[in-house]
Amino acid sequence: MSASYEVHGHVAVITMNNPPVNGLGLANRQGIVEGLKKAQADENVTAIVLTGAGKAFSGGADIKEFGSPKAIAEPNLLTVIRAVELSTKPVIAAVHSVAMGGGLELALGAHYRIAAPGTAVALPEVKLGLLPGAGGTMRLPRVLGVEVALNMIVSGEPVKSEQLAAIPGQKLFDKMASSAESLPAEALAFAQEMATKHADGSALPLVRNLPCKHPKGAAYFQFARNMVGGMSKNYPAPLKCVDVVEMATTLPFDQGMLKEREAFMALMATPESNALRHLFIAERAASKIPDVPEDTPKRKIDSVGVIGAGTMGGGIAMNFLNAGIPVTILETKQEALDRGLATIRKNYEAQVKKGKLKQDKYEQRMAMLKPTLSYDDLSQADLIIEAVFEEMGVKEVVFKQLDAVAKAGAILASNTSTLDVNQIASFTKRPQDVVGMHFFSPANVMKLLEVVRGEKTAKDVLATVMALAKKIKKTAVVSGVCDGFIGNRMIEQYSRQAGFLLEEGALPQQVDKAIEKFGFAMGPFRMGDLAGNDIGWAIRKRRAVERANMKYSKTADLLCEMGRYGQKTGAGWYDYVPGKRDAIPSTVVNEMIEKHRADQGIKARKISDDEIVQRLVFAMVNEACHILEEGIASRASDIDMVYLTGYGFPIYRGGPMHYAQTFGLYNVVTAMQRFAQNPMDDQAFWTPAPLLTKLVAEGRGFD
Ligand code: 3HC
Ligand code: NAI
Repeated sequence: MSASYEVHGHVAVITMNNPPVNGLGLANRQGIVEGLKKAQADENVTAIVLTGAGKAFSGGADIKEFGSPKAIAEPNLLTVIRAVELSTKPVIAAVHSVAMGGGLELALGAHYRIAAPGTAVALPEVKLGLLPGAGGTMRLPRVLGVEVALNMIVSGEPVKSEQLAAIPGQKLFDKMASSAESLPAEALAFAQEMATKHADGSALPLVRNLPCKHPKGAAYFQFARNMVGGMSKNYPAPLKCVDVVEMATTLPFDQGMLKEREAFMALMATPESNALRHLFIAERAASKIPDVPEDTPKRKIDSVGVIGAGTMGGGIAMNFLNAGIPVTILETKQEALDRGLATIRKNYEAQVKKGKLKQDKYEQRMAMLKPTLSYDDLSQADLIIEAVFEEMGVKEVVFKQLDAVAKAGAILASNTSTLDVNQIASFTKRPQDVVGMHFFSPANVMKLLEVVRGEKTAKDVLATVMALAKKIKKTAVVSGVCDGFIGNRMIEQYSRQAGFLLEEGALPQQVDKAIEKFGFAMGPFRMGDLAGNDIGWAIRKRRAVERANMKYSKTADLLCEMGRYGQKTGAGWYDYVPGKRDAIPSTVVNEMIEKHRADQGIKARKISDDEIVQRLVFAMVNEACHILEEGIASRASDIDMVYLTGYGFPIYRGGPMHYAQTFGLYNVVTAMQRFAQNPMDDQAFWTPAPLLTKLVAEGRGFD
């Protein structure tokens, strides 16, 4: 969509109109330039107001256009901003709601700026692995001072317009409107005033002409570099921001602009920026369900019931209390209820101690929590989430009771991590109201929420749960029903590969180190020790019945037989010193692995870190392709969101699917074919999923 043009008295008003946030796509840029031309040509016009329709002045360059010819087509953003600067009639940017990235850079090209209070002002390019590419690094320090501007550019965080307007000596805003509603009228009056002021032909002010210096010069920038470098490992953009802002203080404006452009283009080509831009789009896509329209009516959720106050139930309850939604929590025994409440209190008190939560807020939250032993107390809850033991028999008892007491229209959710949500739904007479809400541990901290859609789950239930997830600040991803859903189904293949690697010659510490160097927060063995190796053991015992032919390494079973369940027993794949969490490579475990190899007649071989990473990651990718084919996930980027928010996959690699695509799907398939030749591995598993074969044959990616 383009920009509209109207004349009010002697003032032309150019209004960007490209919903949802007036991204500066090609048509919008063309519209602004055409508007400027019309205004120059109209003798009746003496000043120009540039503003945005709807809920933003502008959210910046159109991210969805990046990588397409439109992104660089003329007039590009630099050309548009230059046209604004060169206008012989004063241009007044009237900013409101959101002025970010290229949007703020556009406003900085104007001769004057008037802002509505409450406007979110930011140069958030760094969050996309970029730096401002249309003069932001050169102009923002000139109007706000080097330090404030550098903080904004390096953090990308929005600051409210009134806060910026209060900075002594700032030149960002020439005037603050009294409210967003009065901005259009105040902007017109201000434009008229500026037209009168410059009627004598006096020069129009330009930000580029302002001085830009820091009193400490290079020493300040070195300090900034040390601070930023320490916090931005694996991300090149923040340090580049420091370098380029320093150039704003040492180079003439136009030379600085060239350096900024050079750095912007270089960052745009980095895999890190590519991954972060993918994340931006993937995050927003995940909230949309292909066959559930966005305007689907939602059920009201004003109260929540939680069944089970164990590890998960307590954390789940905290999410709702934090969002101001009252919770009734149910247990079968008073001791369990007391224990659960004590844990919730302990968690909140730790936050109070660290200064992250005010005492009165803590008390307010606890006052919204009602403990109970009676199902009758759940009869009025709008949503009830079950987090009891992972046994179908126990779930059956709970859901039958829920069906009897819950009011009509209440949503009944299960936090099961592996069980069949369709079977759980069948325990009720209202399977349309049943859904999986799979939180991750610790449930009050982890961002991911897998929303498990049963065969009969109603669309409005899904729409409600997705909206609620946003309210409790979770990233919700929809999964169909299958064993392990998206995340755990893939991690099982990753864990199996980790086991095979031990049999073939690697040790736990080598596997962990290789994948941690790749960027994972924790390798599979450290993770096993943290979560408890007995959980996987129980699953493998179940698998032995369900899929007797499935090949897996016995080393993990041998470990559990030694009682080494992980940190909770003080020993697992690693040794632990009491009271500490440091994983110390274990001679006992290494000997167990070596003995196991000898018993199997296996001659250990040296395995490269590259092979370790590829086998672990591509095992997930192949399983993910089956998940896509089966319709369990609706898009590859949803799978990336699961791994980025729930499993510690390195953000700067964009998730397993994005990483595979960057690696080249052809190369992925070739590697799989190589792994399939390994007699120690599961050769059938490495047959590339049909979807992968098809995409490679067609030369396409997942997007
Ligand atoms: N380009 C294209 N689309 C954008 C966009 C942008 N810059 N910013 C937001 N959108 C889209 C989103 O994709 C989403 O679309 P969808 O409905 O189709 O999913 C829609 O706007 C709403 O976005 P949110 O869900 O994020 O809505 P919020 O109201 O929560 O937030 C916002 C609005 C604060 C503008 C937030 O979207 C945001 O932070 N956007 C990113 C802004 C940004 O990074 N700008 C810099 C771009 S790079 C640049 O300008 C380069 C320049 O220096 C040369
Ligand atoms: P837990 O053992 O810590 O807590 C379960 C609680 O449920 C106990 O306090 C128990 O007293 C209570 N309970 C048992 N039967 C009950 C009943 N009939 N009525 C009311 N309360 C009852 O277990 P955890 O780890 O919290 O797991 C709960 C559920 O969450 C399981 O389905 C599990 O698969 C799932 N889950 C667990 C994760 C984890 O990391 N622990 C992660 C994601 C899901």
